[in-house]
Amino acid sequence: MDLFNVYKRWDIEPVKGLGTKLWDADGTEYTDLYGGHAVISVGHCHPHYVQALCKQAGTLGFYSNAVQNGLQDKLAALLGKASGYDDYLLFLCNSGAEANENALKLASFATGRSKVLGFCKAFHGRTSGAVALTDNAAIRAPFNATSNVQFVPLNDLQAVEKALIKGEFAAVIVEGIQGVAGIYEPTDEFLQGLRSVCDKTGTLLIADEIQSGYGRTGLFYAHQHAGIRADIITSAKGMANGFPIGGVLISPAIKAKSGMLGTTFGGNHLACAAAIAVLEIMQEEHLVENAAKVGDYFKKAFEGDKALKEYRGRGLMIGLELKEEYIGLRDKLLFEKHFFTGAAGASVIRLLPSLTIDLATAERFVNAWKELTK
Ligand SMILES: Cc1ncc(COP(=O)(O)O)c(C=O)c1O
Repeated sequence: MDLFNVYKRWDIEPVKGLGTKLWDADGTEYTDLYGGHAVISVGHCHPHYVQALCKQAGTLGFYSNAVQNGLQDKLAALLGKASGYDDYLLFLCNSGAEANENALKLASFATGRSKVLGFCKAFHGRTSGAVALTDNAAIRAPFNATSNVQFVPLNDLQAVEKALIKGEFAAVIVEGIQGVAGIYEPTDEFLQGLRSVCDKTGTLLIADEIQSGYGRTGLFYAHQHAGIRADIITSAKGMANGFPIGGVLISPAIKAKSGMLGTTFGGNHLACAAAIAVLEIMQEEHLVENAAKVGDYFKKAFEGDKALKEYRGRGLMIGLELKEEYIGLRDKLLFEKHFFTGAAGASVIRLLPSLTIDLATAERFVNAWKELTK
């Protein structure tokens, strides 16, 4: 059987990883500033993470949500503490898109409304509800997504007010920072305004922190830079360093009926052990602070860079928009200097490294970049 071919893949196969390093079968070493798309939060094969997973696999790998599971309680307690959302409730699932689907279902149930407001260029996943809120023609158009969705430009509060004023929308969903679009930030003032329009119109605010959350921007969730709280927060990618998991943090004001949401694999023992280990490492190694520190270094190092049209992002969620004549640099970084990076279209290089990245690695990347663009 062949694989169903939907991915554009590099002709490189990493077979081993450690920290921010990867190796292929020939022993060629790469530095990973992409983290498999913002997933690797505590570095490849962190010893505490490996030990926690191995121990859990040898104890009890899985049982369903028909029984008690103390690991879920431990994860919820740790996540509440790390995120500042102690008073919220956690629903565990298996991926980012699934977290968003559940957030949308909850919003619709809680408000009795079905419309959802999203933002131009947003990405919320590939399942049917999430793809309907993804404003990307190549991803959304083929599926004739439903019409319960409206898009307005990010940072346009007037457009938000105009849409929400009649009180018809269940929710607004906003990425902490738009990732797939190429790293576009909602301003703090916009998020504050959004919060207050939601309050006035009885609309729930869903923060999609699947890419921007888990410490990546120097605070646990990116929307917290604006000093606001969302009603529902969705998490996934960095949560378990590559073990599939998703989480929905739910305001205690939102009620659900027993049996209304569910999943077979969500919150299983291995996923919880992995996610607990991630939060323990993040705390022990002060990784949120490290993300802010190394992010500041990158920002300064790229000031006035001749190849850049614009530097966007916060902490370790970085978009480097290239001038026309430097398009193609990402391939050179990979094939000549052995750095993995992400992209958004041809002109934006995305850096989404592990939060464990040190300054020396960041400096090596900047030096390689400067050499290729001199
Ligand atoms: C902001 C955002 N939301 C949702 C998703 C979907 O996550 P998953 O691929 O785990 O379904 C992504 C994935 O890139 C994302 O960046």
